Amino acid sequence: MSRPSLLATHPLFPEARTLLNARCDVEYWQRPERPSRAEFLKQVAPKDGVICLLTEKIDKEMLAAAPKVRIAANVAVGYDNISLPDCTSRKVVVTNTPGVLDETTADFAWTLLMCAARRVEEGEALCRSGQWAGWNLDQLCGGDVWGKTLGVVGFGRIGRAVARRSRGFGMKVIYTDAIRAPEGVEHELGARYVDMDTLLASADFVTLHVPMMAGTHHLINAERLKKMKPTAYLVNTARGPVVDNEALYQALKAGTIAGAGIDVHEQEPKIHAGLVSLKNVVLTPHIASASVETRTKMACMAAENVLAFFGGQRPPNVVNPEALG
Ligand code: DGY
Repeated sequence: MSRPSLLATHPLFPEARTLLNARCDVEYWQRPERPSRAEFLKQVAPKDGVICLLTEKIDKEMLAAAPKVRIAANVAVGYDNISLPDCTSRKVVVTNTPGVLDETTADFAWTLLMCAARRVEEGEALCRSGQWAGWNLDQLCGGDVWGKTLGVVGFGRIGRAVARRSRGFGMKVIYTDAIRAPEGVEHELGARYVDMDTLLASADFVTLHVPMMAGTHHLINAERLKKMKPTAYLVNTARGPVVDNEALYQALKAGTIAGAGIDVHEQEPKIHAGLVSLKNVVLTPHIASASVETRTKMACMAAENVLAFFGGQRPPNVVNPEALG
C-alpha cells in the first residue's frame, strides 16, 4: 500500500507524530476542544484509518461514513467507546493501549484515596479562603489509611498495582474478581480472595478496577453502597457508569459511606450536580493516566499499532483478532 491516510483526533505528542509521519499521511485534529460528532464524521470519511480518543464513538454510523477505514486505534486501554461487533463485522481492526498506564493509574487511585480520607481538598480550600483561624484539635479530622483494609474490585494489572502500593501502609488487602488470581500473586500481594458482599462489608477503602461492559454497568448501586461501612471510602478510576452516580450522591449525603474519590463520571464531561455540591467527595476530570510520560507512551503505542497494521503485520494490541485476515 502507498502511504495510508489517517485521521488522528488529537495532535498527539511529538514522539508519536514522528513515528506516524515517516510512513503515513496524517491529518491531526488541532483545536484544543474535542471535535464535534459532525466534524469527526466529516474528517474521517475519506481516511484509511483513525487514531481516536475515548471521546470518539466508533459505531455503525461512523463506519458507514468512513467505508475505507480499516483500523481504529484507541489511545486508551478501555474501548467502551467502540462497538466491537460493528467493527468486527466490517473487518475493521481495533487496538488499545494496555499495560503502559497501569502504574500511573494506580498512583492516581492512591492520590484520590488519600485526598478523600485526609480531606486534602477541604484543607486546601480553607488555606486559600483566608479563613483559617489556626490549628485546632478537631480540625478537618479524616480517616486513617495505614493499617486499614483495602478492597480491590477487579484484580487485573491496575488493581494489582494499587494493591502493591498498600504494602507500605501496612494494610490488609482483599479483592474480588470473576477469576481468582494465581496463588503466587495472592501471596506476593498478601491479598485474600472474597466475594463482593464480603468485600463491601469489610473494606475501609473500596477501589474499582473493572472494565466497562454490560455486566459492570452500575456494579456499585444503592444496594451495594448500603453494604459498605459508614466509615468507608469509594474510589473510582475505572469508568463512570460502573457507579450509579445518583446513588453515590445519596449515600454520601446521608452518610451511608464516609467519602469518595471519583475520577470518572457517568456522563462525561457532565459531572453529577449533587456530587459537585458535597464536601466529602474528591472529583477529578478523568486524569488517572495523565502523566506526560504515560500519555506519550499511549500515543506511541497507538501509532505503533497502526504502523504494524499498514506494514502487513499483526498489531501488538488487537482486541478483535477475528477482524484480521
Ligand atoms: C483508559 O486508558 O481507558 C483511561 O481511562 C484513559 O487513560
